[in-house]
Amino acid sequence: MRLQSVSLRGRRFAIQLGTIMQEFGNVIPWLDGVRGLEWATNGTYVHDEILRRLRLETGDLTPYHFVTRDRSREFHGGILAFARSPERFIDPRNIAATEELDAIGAGYISCLQVLPDHQGHGTGSTLMRRALAVILEERGYVWGVISNQGLLPWYRSLGATVKSPIENRDNLWIVTWTKHNATP
Ligand SMILES: CC(C)(COP(=O)(O)OP(=O)(O)OC[C@H]1O[C@@H](n2cnc3c(N)ncnc32)[C@H](O)[C@@H]1OP(=O)(O)O)[C@@H](O)C(=O)NCCC(=O)NCCS
Repeated sequence: MRLQSVSLRGRRFAIQLGTIMQEFGNVIPWLDGVRGLEWATNGTYVHDEILRRLRLETGDLTPYHFVTRDRSREFHGGILAFARSPERFIDPRNIAATEELDAIGAGYISCLQVLPDHQGHGTGSTLMRRALAVILEERGYVWGVISNQGLLPWYRSLGATVKSPIENRDNLWIVTWTKHNATP
């Protein structure tokens, strides 16, 4: 399997956005703002429009695909990397943590998914390790938000530090990585 940062030419990013909407459309609030874009077929338009709608024009968004090495380049999963985050919190402790992360220019990752047929065989762990290595090399510090508390032990096994208190008003958990704590 190979992790690729995806060219915005063609339909590949739009296909990924389609699978993201299926998986997280009712889970991640900021995806409400980009609804409908999964039907656009121009990847550059999708990219620019996501940033415009989320008011992140000064930043960047890189889609990563985890694909087979054969000619089909079959899509098994992916993740999105943003220069800045579209997340909004209500718990003051989560708000304070995000302000700190924004201030140090930490990169933000979201929408990690492995397609259902390929889950449970270590794909997600490999994808995350490779994505963290690439993104940390670029930005030095990365964070994300977990909506499923049951996944926290897995994220910890990948070197994540959990910044949010377990009980918090958002019922979301901020996790961070630095070059020093990501597990290779
Ligand atoms: C989470 C996900 C990316 C893991 O991918 P995968 O290829 O199945 O991952 P792996 O086979 O490497 O296993 C990952 C670990 O997570 C655990 N796990 C997976 N889904 C879980 C869930 N819903 N709740 C608790 N643990 C879970 C697995 O049991 C495994 O634990 P282990 O290493 O102790 O055996 C994949 O299940 C997925 O895409 N899920 C739907 C989208 C999602 O929840 N994304 C994460 C958003 S925060």
